This record gives sequence, structure tokens and C-alpha cells, in this order.
Amino acid sequence: MRTQVGIIGAGPAGLLLGQLLHRQGISNVILERRSAEYVLDRVRAGLIEQGTVDLLDQAGVGRRMHAEGLVHDGVELSFDGEHHRIDFKALVGKAVMVYGQTEITRDLMQARAAAGQETVYEAEDVQPLDISSARPSLTYRKDGVSYEIGCDFIIGCDGFHGVSRSTIPAEVLKTYERIYPFGWLGILVDRPPISPELIYAHSERGFALCTMRSATRSRLYVQCPLDDQVEDWSDDRFWSELALRLDPSDAARLVPGPSIEKSIAPLRSFVAEPMRFGRLFLAGDAAHIVPPTGAKGLNLAASDVFYLWRALSEHYETGAMAGLDAYSQTALKRVWLAERFSWWMTSILHTFPEASSFEQQLQKAELGYLVRSPAAMTALAENYVGLPY
Ligand code: FAD
Ligand code: PHB
Repeated sequence: MRTQVGIIGAGPAGLLLGQLLHRQGISNVILERRSAEYVLDRVRAGLIEQGTVDLLDQAGVGRRMHAEGLVHDGVELSFDGEHHRIDFKALVGKAVMVYGQTEITRDLMQARAAAGQETVYEAEDVQPLDISSARPSLTYRKDGVSYEIGCDFIIGCDGFHGVSRSTIPAEVLKTYERIYPFGWLGILVDRPPISPELIYAHSERGFALCTMRSATRSRLYVQCPLDDQVEDWSDDRFWSELALRLDPSDAARLVPGPSIEKSIAPLRSFVAEPMRFGRLFLAGDAAHIVPPTGAKGLNLAASDVFYLWRALSEHYETGAMAGLDAYSQTALKRVWLAERFSWWMTSILHTFPEASSFEQQLQKAELGYLVRSPAAMTALAENYVGLPY
């Protein structure tokens, strides 16, 4: 079997790239280790930048997003008993959209099925081969049978724990990493959001975030120690801890209810360079991880896909390799800016167990400055809504 572009991973990066390439007449096959149901069951990101919205429109999957997504013109920051709104619209003339990763994945899967494009779910032992040659291939097993697909290019969209990144020789790959000394415990609950916009709360007990999936469903997070287990957190404990971290006026609006999902995610910053080796290209979490505080993970996967889509389209139209040759450098520029912003948002809003009293005072000064300086608020707004591609 042959295809032009072989894609590993049916997360948002792989599915979006597959759909954009298909609309350009470029054939592609996606190999995914899990089942479609498993992929759809993962609760992850919820907030998308205008650039991601535009890209989903270009992929022809924007209809439901525009009907059901919630446009947000700003966010609230809460700390020290004060509440501050960062007005994106007024500061930088842009907005963001609340539309869950699960819904994006569902829309992309449906579009792919409707277009008759092939996705192999539950593909075992996927391996990219001969990536330094002009004729790479992908091998995998399914139901005990081995297969090989010849490709022009292989795109690793297989997330942080995928196989693609480790195919790049260790002497070529440089990695950068920061592990934070806490995680986020998140619950999904069928209760209306307590506020029309997201609330990022800093308190001495730790960070908390009130976000949402719809007008009737909330997604709530609290910072927790790295070694905490989901079982340590009953719903009652979650609701009381959240209330203690919010401004009393916000806490008073909480209506506790049973969680329909509960999970803990460790926080990490990670970048692997280069994002290309031979005919293998990495996109999304396969190449980089950001802590979720800046809501950038999914949006970075989208900008990687944009650069690859443009470069592959140019290649198949003209034979040029220039865009593909520049991919790693182009994508990494934006990746590092999002890494910087996500690290900074994480540093100002969380409670760091090891922080000295000097560092604690600096953090207070930073937050105080942020909400009083239009210049500082503008810098936050510009990054939060998404830097240009
Ligand atoms: P993924 O979504 O990870 O998709 C990769 C796909 O590749 C998966 O379907 C996987 O099964 C498949 N795969 C892996 N290995 C193989 C293999 N060997 N062969 C074949 N297929 C393989 N971002 C936010 O902005 N806000 C959040 O709240 C948030 N929460 C998160 C919570 C968790 C637990 C995680 C893990 C991430 C979270 N993120 C969040 C980040 C965001 O979800 C990711 O940045 C986004 O999913 C990246 O998309 P992707 O397609 O690159 O990778
Ligand atoms: C979410 O809706 O899950 C979400 C929103 C903003 C973030 C992180 C997560 O910064």
C-alpha cells in the first residue's frame, strides 16, 4: 500500500492535518494506537485561539463550533480578595473561543469518515522506517496481521508518549524540560459556570481555575501535590478546597454536584529540537508540552499543523522543499513563545512549595503590577489570544 503522507496519531494534530491535506487533494493515512471511543473519551483542552478557529474553518469542520462554541472577550484574575478583568477585546481587539477538544476531535473524525479517508484504529507497534531515505514507510500490526505503507513523508502526531520522537537519533535530538512540583486535579460537572468568563485564581492554598464546556457544564481545576491520587479527592473535598481558593463572592455562587470525570495531570514544559529529521516531521505534543495554565497545548498543535499543511501543499504543487526545510525553525519560533507564556502564567499563579519569602513577595508584586499596568495587561492579552502564525 502507498500514500503520500503517513500520519501517526489521531489526536487533534493528526486529524486536523489529515483533513486539511485531503481538501488539498493530498492522500494520507492515519495510524492510531487506541480505539476511536478511547480517543473521544479523553477530557483535555477547552479553549481555542482565533487562529485555531480559522484553521478548523479551513478544514471545513467549523459549523458546530460556531453554533455551540462560546466566544469570550476576556478572563478574570482573582487574588488577595480582589477581582480583575483582562479585557482582550479592548486591549488587543481579539477574542478566544470555548469549544472542547473532545468536540473538535468528534467533528474531525466525522468529516474524515464522510470523506472516506482511512484511519486505522488499534494499530499496534507502529514504526516509522527509513526516515532518512527518499522512500520512508510505516509498519504496523492489526488483528495479528502485519502491514507496510510506503509514504513520501511521515508526520509524527503521536503525542508526548508516542514512537516518532524516539525515532530521531539521540545525537541529533536536543530536549529542554522543566517539571513543576504540582499537578492539576480537574473535574467535569453538569453545573452552569459560576461566571460567564474563566476565573484564574491565585491563593496561598494554591491555584484554581473555573472554566467550562458549555452553558450547563463546568470544568474546574485545583493545583494539587504531584503524588496525590484521584482517590484522595472525594467530590466533597474538591468542592470545599475550590471554595477556599476563590474570592468569597465567587465561592458563594458554587453549586456543588457529582463529578462526571475526575483526573490529575502533572505540569511540564518540554521542547524537542529539531522537529524534523529526514522525512519525519513532528507536530503537537510529540514535539512539545506546555503546562495548561496558558491554554496553549492544543493551539500549538494547530499552528504546527498550519505550517506543515502550507509546506506540504507547496511541495505537491511545485515540487519545492523550501517550506518543509524551514518547518522546524518556523514552528519552533512560535513554540518557544508559547513555552515562555505558559511558564510565566504558571509561575505567577501557582503556589510553589519551595518558594523563599523573597520569591513570594516578587510573585505578589508581579500580580499587582499586572492588573494595574495597561502595558502588562496588554502583553498578557496579546499572548493569551494567540500570537500570529
Ligand atoms: P494527542 O492529543 O496526545 O494525540 C496523540 C495521539 O497519538 C493519541 O490519540 C495517541 O493515542 C496516539 N498515539 C500515541 N502513541 C502512538 C503510537 N505509538 N502509535 C499510534 N498512535 C499513537 N491543553 C490545554 O490547553 N488545556 C488543558 O486543560 C489540557 N489538559 C490536558 C490533560 C491531559 C491529561 C493531557 C495529556 C493533555 C492536556 N492538554 C491540555 C494538552 C492538549 O490536550 C494537547 O496539547 C493536545 O491534545 C495535543 O494534541 P496532539 O494531537 O498533538 O496529541
Ligand atoms: C479548559 O477549559 O479545560 C482550560 C481552559 C483554560 C486553561 C486550561 C484549561 O488555561
